[in-house]
Amino acid sequence: MLNIAVFASGRGSNLEALHRSLAARAVAARIVAVISNNSGSGALSFARANGIPALHLSRQRFDDDASFSAAVLDALHRHGAELVVLAGYMKKLDAPVVAAYRGRIINIHPALLPKYGGEGMYGMRVHEAVIAAGDRISGATVHLVDEEYDRGRILLQDIVTLAPGETPESLAAKVLNVEHRILPEVVTMFAEGSIGQ
Ligand code: GRF
Repeated sequence: MLNIAVFASGRGSNLEALHRSLAARAVAARIVAVISNNSGSGALSFARANGIPALHLSRQRFDDDASFSAAVLDALHRHGAELVVLAGYMKKLDAPVVAAYRGRIINIHPALLPKYGGEGMYGMRVHEAVIAAGDRISGATVHLVDEEYDRGRILLQDIVTLAPGETPESLAAKVLNVEHRILPEVVTMFAEGSIGQ
């Protein structure tokens, strides 16, 4: 059984899609903790409503980076996390956490990396940039996480086509549907051992 810890800062629709997929497809994986920097996040509410340990861990509540990273690692170890999933987590994991879970941290990004990635490229900014560039396709990417934003090995991508007059909001909705499909797909691949851990 693969134990998964999910980090999320927002509403948690990717968390919900993952949770639903694991149940529906009887994948040998379970979410053992949801961690958020946002005490009012939908992700923590979803966790609590589904009996999943919900942890509010915010850097602002710690004296320095080292003690915050230690608290994050302690939480991951206490819950036996084996795979870390960043599902709309707006903070970067510090080096000690990346080192401890190297090769076992994945992130979902709402664009076709390596385009439109990196610090500051998140949410609507991504879709606005795609439209401003006149791209005809976009999509979502699941990638391994290392010390840099959005740079790790790409594990799975899928595309959407832009319609004439596509808005950032309509594009975001199309891409989110792809996210909800490919993130559970990659987690399933980890659970089945088809991605090296
Ligand atoms: C998604 O668009 C994801 O690509 C990005 O943050 C958003 C999270 O949405 N990293 P949700 O909280 O899963 O609904």
